Amino acid sequence: MKMSVIGTGYLGAVHAACMAHIGHEVVAYDTDAAKIATLSTGASPFYEPGFDELLAEVLATGRLRFTQSVQEAVTGASVHFVCVGTPQLAGSDAANIAYVDSAFRSVAAHADCDGLVVGKSTVPVGTAQRLAAEVAETSSEHRLEVAWNPEFLREGKAIEDTLAPDRLVFGVTSEYAEKTLQEVYGSIIEAGTPHLTADLPTSELVKVAANAFLATKISFINAMAEVCEIVDADVVTLSRALGYDDRIGKRFLNAGLGFGGGCLPKDIRAFSARAGELGASDALRFLHEVDKINLRRREKAVAVARALVGGDFLGKSIAVLGAAFKPNSDDVRDSPALNVAAAMHLKGADVRVHDPKAIENAKARFPTLGYFDSAEEACRNADLIVLATEWDEYCNIDPASFRSVVKQARLLDTRNAIDRDYWTGAGWQVYSLGRGGLTG
Ligand code: UDX
Repeated sequence: MKMSVIGTGYLGAVHAACMAHIGHEVVAYDTDAAKIATLSTGASPFYEPGFDELLAEVLATGRLRFTQSVQEAVTGASVHFVCVGTPQLAGSDAANIAYVDSAFRSVAAHADCDGLVVGKSTVPVGTAQRLAAEVAETSSEHRLEVAWNPEFLREGKAIEDTLAPDRLVFGVTSEYAEKTLQEVYGSIIEAGTPHLTADLPTSELVKVAANAFLATKISFINAMAEVCEIVDADVVTLSRALGYDDRIGKRFLNAGLGFGGGCLPKDIRAFSARAGELGASDALRFLHEVDKINLRRREKAVAVARALVGGDFLGKSIAVLGAAFKPNSDDVRDSPALNVAAAMHLKGADVRVHDPKAIENAKARFPTLGYFDSAEEACRNADLIVLATEWDEYCNIDPASFRSVVKQARLLDTRNAIDRDYWTGAGWQVYSLGRGGLTG
């Protein structure tokens, strides 16, 4: 099928390449000239395992092109995927849906044949219905219909999550829309992927409800970590014991520095803001608490780090391992790691940051922190190491040989990622969030 993809950020670029991979002819559009130029050469503007290879493969087939002309993208296509961002509005918890509105308007203005405009962006519930009415009004010459098909892709697993998702959700208002989406995802459905048909508001809600649930699960275990810290219990063992219960499950139950990134924090805030507009504030009030628990973990990490360097950051050298909001990503949006690094720097510490992939993005956000090309350099003569993002590289550090690198063999493991006994056995003092005090 011929399709356009509007927006080539994380979601749009991966979606466009995956659609071409399963045989569709795709033209992807973005207003950002630099991004289009980079993608057209087969390079990725962001780090995502396997994406460079996928891009090379589909560009070679000629089934994927990138353009800065929305008309070129839309012309001749019968399916249009809107994949633009919905960032948090400045000074508010609500989502900024201006880019979504403008994308739908552009498609309606340029479409030259009948087709389906499919929203993939995460939007406040009710947006799809409003856009469906607007598109129906503006597209008098051609029959354009709106559908919603939320994405659930995780950074670091974006390709797998697109080509073999846990489920597909089709928010539709007609049989034509449902059939069209079934055709788009034909090979993925044939491979056994569950697919559900829903009305427009339900399909919008699935996405925000999923993220709200995941955020709640993380904050639940982090709330337990707070209690563990008071009574000298061990949240890692607690989490493991809880996870054996199938009704609870072990995933997303890792206590640590909490959630960050471009989705969970802003999505739960936007969901709460939307609930307020709909008169349903009481139903989602708990999400405010989920947010607060999450942010308290960052404060706790800074407080523990300060105590570990003797109560005052001034004149202390602290190595921060990790800047990305999670491993296998170069994304530093609302990154707990970088937030903790910046807070310690503001309080007077000499902060030395390393990350395998996110240094450039981190530098752009916090240029005054010290950045180093290797974990070893970042840790040289440090009074304390703060492990803030659990990259494999850090979990595989040999603690015995690393002792000679630092000034003080002391580690704050904010992600409960290292083998604490192994490190203490090698002569380190280790503080793991939620697992009692300093060991070793
Ligand atoms: C998330 C959703 O998982 C995805 O379905 C949605 O489409 C977009 O938002 P992503 O932002 O890529 O994906 O990250 P995710 O893997 O969900 O992790 C989010 C944050 O939670 C990270 O900062 C991670 O470190 C943290 N996390 C995750 C925990 O603190 N503990 C856990 O147990 C799991």
